Amino acid sequence: MKIGIIGLGFVGLSLTSVLSSKDFDVVGIDIDEEKCKKISNGIIPFFEPNLEKMLKNGLKKKLKITNDFSIIQNCDIIFVAVGTPQNKNGSIDLSIIKKVVSTIGENILKNKKKPIIIIKSTVIPGTMEKIILPILEKKSNKKEGKDFGLISNPEFLQESSAIRDTKFPHVVVLGGNQTQFMKKAKKIFKKLHPNTPIIITNHQTAEIIKYANNSFLATKISFINQLSNICQKIPEANIDDIGKTIGLDPRIGKLFLNAGPGYGGSCLPKDMKALINFAKTSGINPTLLNAVEEVNTKQLEQIILMIKQKLGNLASKKITILGTSFKPDTDDIRDSISIELIEKLLKRKALITIHDPKAIENTKGIFGSKIKYSKSVKYALSKSQCVIIMTQWKQYEKLNNNDFNDMAKKIVIDCRRMLIKKQLDVDYVAIGLGKKN
Ligand SMILES: NC(=O)c1ccc[n+]([C@@H]2O[C@H](COP(=O)([O-])OP(=O)(O)OC[C@H]3O[C@@H](n4cnc5c(N)ncnc54)[C@H](O)[C@@H]3O)[C@@H](O)[C@H]2O)c1
Repeated sequence: MKIGIIGLGFVGLSLTSVLSSKDFDVVGIDIDEEKCKKISNGIIPFFEPNLEKMLKNGLKKKLKITNDFSIIQNCDIIFVAVGTPQNKNGSIDLSIIKKVVSTIGENILKNKKKPIIIIKSTVIPGTMEKIILPILEKKSNKKEGKDFGLISNPEFLQESSAIRDTKFPHVVVLGGNQTQFMKKAKKIFKKLHPNTPIIITNHQTAEIIKYANNSFLATKISFINQLSNICQKIPEANIDDIGKTIGLDPRIGKLFLNAGPGYGGSCLPKDMKALINFAKTSGINPTLLNAVEEVNTKQLEQIILMIKQKLGNLASKKITILGTSFKPDTDDIRDSISIELIEKLLKRKALITIHDPKAIENTKGIFGSKIKYSKSVKYALSKSQCVIIMTQWKQYEKLNNNDFNDMAKKIVIDCRRMLIKKQLDVDYVAIGLGKKN
């Protein structure tokens, strides 16, 4: 069984590496020739724990990487994991996936096998039936259900644990028509993940499940962030004790209850926008989802307000940002709140220095010489008038009085409450912490 995986980003490359290291005959396909060359040489194009080791394992076995799409003709299973970004108005941009399925169609025209095409990319309800299926049938001149199978298989992995999540997903969703291809797909996934629940449904339900999942997570984050704002008005209240306690209620669950600067990253913001846009075009007013987004936007304004309360006018003020990646253990800065914060501070003419253990190069790609970059936290803090801890990198937990010594003003704004238990000789403010009376 030959497996083709199209799109070697976080989702596609993780799947490619995991399947090939399990001895499957895998070919990874990407449009980006440079990226293909790097990956073929065992170099991963972004930081993801354990990915490099897994990829090198696969390359020692049968794994091949290519930008030649004609290889699709020999594949029994074709996964699609290309990006589905957002348009300016928040709606989903399907141009990449349309192009890819069109190429798949042209190639399965020449495929003597009856392949199964499995779409992992996140797509808005109706995309499979109304867009992807017609393109495939038209370009291949073949019929779904008879000559090839088409299955929705939304992905739930998280960056920073992509390999673990790919190996041990909490659920597998298979959407589509109940054909021989669906039976075969179910058998393959059952073998791959014997202990994982498999939900078999239709395309539209599979598509909306992914949005339901992400919008619920965004809701949990905005909920705890709104409560953190309330806590800041209650003397000595602590949002972490609240999150920990309500998280023990099995009806609530403990994850995604860490108050912070707001949700960011490559998925939650864009999927929220796409769902809101989809709801509106379907005639539904998404009141709750709009509120979740509004709370998220206001959270960043809260941080700016905290900085202004300490520094007044921000022009020419030296501000240090610790962490630009949207979460720890990744170098991904797509829709990172930290990047938005820097943009807003630059508009107010502040002088910015940043530190991040993995994301400096990506950050340079956005800001170039407009800000300063430091590989050492101590140097980043030197002469600074205010430091803002944005990303929960483990190393920031170790900060102590020594590190803050060279600051011009020792103002610490801790958006993650990482230093809350330390005895620090600084002016300390944290999100979700009520001041002492
Ligand atoms: N990143 C995540 O945490 C995550 C989690 C769950 C679901 N998803 C969804 O999975 C999909 C992929 O996300 P990602 O983060 O892996 O994307 P990504 O942007 O990291 O990677 C996409 C890859 O597709 C390649 N590509 C672009 N055009 C192509 C083409 N025409 N042919 C072949 N390859 C092409 C790009 O070069 C890139 O390597 C998206 O729909 C996303 O919403 C992502």
